[in-house]
Amino acid sequence: MSKARALSGIQPTSGSFHLGNYLGAVRQWVELQDSHDTYYCVVDLHSLTSGVDPVKLRESTLASVAQLIALGIDPEKSTLFIQSHVHAHNQLGWVMECLTGFGEASRMTQFKDKSAKSGSDRTVVGLFTYPMLMAADILLYQPQYVPVGEDQRQHIELARDLAIRFNSSYKDIFKVPEGYILKAGAKIYDLQDPTSKMSKSAESASGLIELLDSSTANTKKIKSATTDAGREVKFDSANKPGISNLLTIHSALSGRSIAELEVEFDGKGYGDFKGAVAEVVTSHLDPIRERTNELLQDKGELTRLLKIGAEKAAAVADETVRLAYDALGLIPRG
Ligand code: TRP
Repeated sequence: MSKARALSGIQPTSGSFHLGNYLGAVRQWVELQDSHDTYYCVVDLHSLTSGVDPVKLRESTLASVAQLIALGIDPEKSTLFIQSHVHAHNQLGWVMECLTGFGEASRMTQFKDKSAKSGSDRTVVGLFTYPMLMAADILLYQPQYVPVGEDQRQHIELARDLAIRFNSSYKDIFKVPEGYILKAGAKIYDLQDPTSKMSKSAESASGLIELLDSSTANTKKIKSATTDAGREVKFDSANKPGISNLLTIHSALSGRSIAELEVEFDGKGYGDFKGAVAEVVTSHLDPIRERTNELLQDKGELTRLLKIGAEKAAAVADETVRLAYDALGLIPRG
């Protein structure tokens, strides 16, 4: 039997992924590779919605691909590609925009939050239509599952609605995908503000563990993580969010249970515990950083892998566009 298809995307927002991206998403993408027919896309076009620095975009797109491979996405198992390499995303994106109601798009909470922050004159239209491009990213590949974080639930819902709308208005072409909401257990919080999710958009980078940062920098951040006035290493996210977050991080990387760690650190101070967390984190990240740097030194090989990925992706995506265009009455070029 053929494997069910899963597709996901990640933005190349900056030079390095952080631990939250890895534990919250990419690690599960890696696991899905054996059981599913996986498509993973670095969504560079989506990044154009938040201000463009061409030098940085170029760098961070390649660094994202290299990090995905270093983290275990295997280009032989998965179709790994860059969104802008497959023109079908823009083609179907427009179709999705023409199927979406203005009010419907206005209700997307991520758009509302982001545009409220920057004001309507500084918000680009692309941010408004972002969910329709995302729907195209998904529907082009006819996946059964879309593994994403909880924050993307509404976007997946829109993609499903648009698939159903197209299928019932024109022709039954699109598979209606299911969100595959990633385990909340792997939710990683900011080290300085352990009640907010670890995120690139945090005010300060000091709460962020970046995959490509030096061990020294990450150790320093972990040692200065916010804790509480108590002294017990215990999981209690309401009263001890900082310590709970560090326990989650340790457990996620070491594979040991939180209960086991609580016993091990019983009676030891926060200093010892933080030292152990730093050790686990850096010993995991060192080889990933080295592998990423090696890959980035061989641009020729990265380009070759991306070309293969784009060709595989385009073969599927172009066929979907052909079917959709035809169903809409657009005349083929002949
Ligand atoms: N919007 C997603 C995020 O910010 C990224 C994304 C774009 C995506 N296209 C996608 C995720 C398609 C899954 C499928 O995380």
